[in-house]
Amino acid sequence: MVGPRVLGYLGRAMSHEMSAVQQYLTHAGLARLWGLDDVAEHFRREAAEEQEHAERLTNRMLQLGAMPNASQLTPVRAGPSLIELLEADRLLELRAVDLYREAAQYCAQINDAEDRALFHALHDEELSHAREIEAWLDRLRREYAQAWTR
Ligand SMILES: [Fe+2]
Ligand SMILES: [Fe+2]
Repeated sequence: MVGPRVLGYLGRAMSHEMSAVQQYLTHAGLARLWGLDDVAEHFRREAAEEQEHAERLTNRMLQLGAMPNASQLTPVRAGPSLIELLEADRLLELRAVDLYREAAQYCAQINDAEDRALFHALHDEELSHAREIEAWLDRLRREYAQAWTR
C-alpha cells in the first residue's frame, strides 16, 4: 500500500510534466515565429519527451487506484531571445531534478522500490535535459562573444 506522501509526489510530478509540455510547446511556437525551424523542432521533441513522462506517471497513478490531477500548472516562462528561452528551460529542468531527487530519496527510505525506480529514472532524464541545455547555452554564449570581438 502506497502512502499519501508518494501520491503527493506523483501529483506534483504530473503538475511539473504538464507545465513542461506547455512551456516547450510555447517555446517551439516562438522559435517558429522567429524563423528558427530547427530550434522549433528541438522544442517539439522536448515537449513529446515530457508528455511521455506524464504518461508514465499517469500509468503508475492508475495502477495505484489514483486519478491523475495536475492541478498546479506553472505559468510559462519565456523571453525575447533563444538564450532567454533556454535559461527558462534550464530552471524548469533543475526544479524537476530537485523534485525527483527528493521523491526518490523518500521512496528509498520507506522501501518503496517501484516508485523509487520510477522517480530515479525521471531524475536522470531531467538531469540530462538540464545538461543538454547548459551545453547549448555555453555554445550560444561563445558564438555571441566571438561575434562581438570580430
Ligand atoms: Fe519530464
Ligand atoms: Fe525535462
